Amino acid sequence: MALWGGRFASETRDEVAKYTESISFDRRLFKHDIDGSRAHVAMLAAQGIIPKASADAIRDELLKIRERIEKGDFEYTISLEDIHMHIESALIGKLGNEGARVHSGRSRNDQVALDLRLYLREECDFIVSGIRDFQKALVDKAAAEPDAIMPGFTHLQHAQVILFAHHLLAYVEMLQRDAERLADCRKRIDIMPLGSGALAGSTLPLDREFVRRELGFSRLTRNSLDGVADRDFAIEFLAALAIFAMHVSRLSEDMILWCSQEFSFVELDDAFCTGSSLMPQKKNPDVCELSRGKTARIYGDLTALLTLCKGLPLAYNRDLQEDKVAIFDAVDTAKAILSVYPAMIGTMTIRRDRMAAAAADPALMATDLAEKLVELGVPFRDAHRRVGSFVKFCREKGKALDEVTLDEMRQTIPEATPEFLTLFDPVASVRKRRLVGGTGFEPVANEIEFWQKELKNV
Ligand code: ARG
Repeated sequence: MALWGGRFASETRDEVAKYTESISFDRRLFKHDIDGSRAHVAMLAAQGIIPKASADAIRDELLKIRERIEKGDFEYTISLEDIHMHIESALIGKLGNEGARVHSGRSRNDQVALDLRLYLREECDFIVSGIRDFQKALVDKAAAEPDAIMPGFTHLQHAQVILFAHHLLAYVEMLQRDAERLADCRKRIDIMPLGSGALAGSTLPLDREFVRRELGFSRLTRNSLDGVADRDFAIEFLAALAIFAMHVSRLSEDMILWCSQEFSFVELDDAFCTGSSLMPQKKNPDVCELSRGKTARIYGDLTALLTLCKGLPLAYNRDLQEDKVAIFDAVDTAKAILSVYPAMIGTMTIRRDRMAAAAADPALMATDLAEKLVELGVPFRDAHRRVGSFVKFCREKGKALDEVTLDEMRQTIPEATPEFLTLFDPVASVRKRRLVGGTGFEPVANEIEFWQKELKNV
């Protein structure tokens, strides 16, 4: 008979037990469930709701149950629905009536909300530290290649020259905001819901503050319906993971392009690539491709969770049991991404020669010509038009921009001086980009130094 079987005349049908169980996936909450129960029971005794001896016995037995679960010496059955029922039932199995006191003043509704918050708080910290390692790997690579020049792209067309380090540091910035978003979301995870009961709190004199302190939460939920019904903290967490994954997916797309024969800007270590079962020459950047794919999966998890919650009347509804499927999948996927990226970035080889050859395209410096004209007092639109005509002229003559004489240049850019012919040097072009946030050698070196300091102590 299930622990809630008192008012039932017949047993649950097998198919229904299978349909309604969550033990197959919520067993991973066992540690959090046990931590929560231990705090709850200590509070019950302190408040005189249960005898101190019962509380001590329950707290000890909970530790033994945890050990058994960790050792794999614990039996699961779908007839006990979920991890909460399993642990309570194991307790009663060992302690009889003493164990049956554990659930006083508590419902699985506030219990599962508590477990989820404990779980997400822990995973949040783990993922943030993984993101730090990822940032460090990118900064280290930038520091190892501080002056590799490559073409920057817009519309995937050659645009202007940039430093490869600057490109990597763009992702460090994105990851920084991802870490900050998660840290901010953690504040709303870190709220203690126990004491909400099934939905209406309890008539027992519980001490919620005691449990909050014991479990290290920073606040209490302030409304029992809200405490059991909402999952916005998890939605927010998955949204932050979705944005993080989106950033990784973009980096991955860059890397896939860079690994292609056409670019060949980088080479990934063999340990991070796979081959083709048919084409012997292939070395594929599958990890990067799978990150694009796994990003889709995290979006799916976020969408599932949002959809799950949108039509639910207050307070708890069993639909909410499905939240864990999406939450666990998103957490696992994000952690899987973090388990490979730092080392993949760290071991990637940079082909400076290939980057430099691509950056030597003089068309990348066309904007520098227009800006030089602005310095000479030409309004930018006119400057743009003149340089545009110059590009057209070169194309018609079948010449590269740096292959013309000054006289030829003057046919479209009358203000051109001999200095204009020197503007096609990519290194000089990068050197001139001195603004804060710019891709010049100096600002990029400053940023590398900033991030090295910033990430040293995290
Ligand atoms: N397994 C359930 C869940 O994950 C626990 C709460 C069940 N509550 C209930 N009243 N049936 O949401």
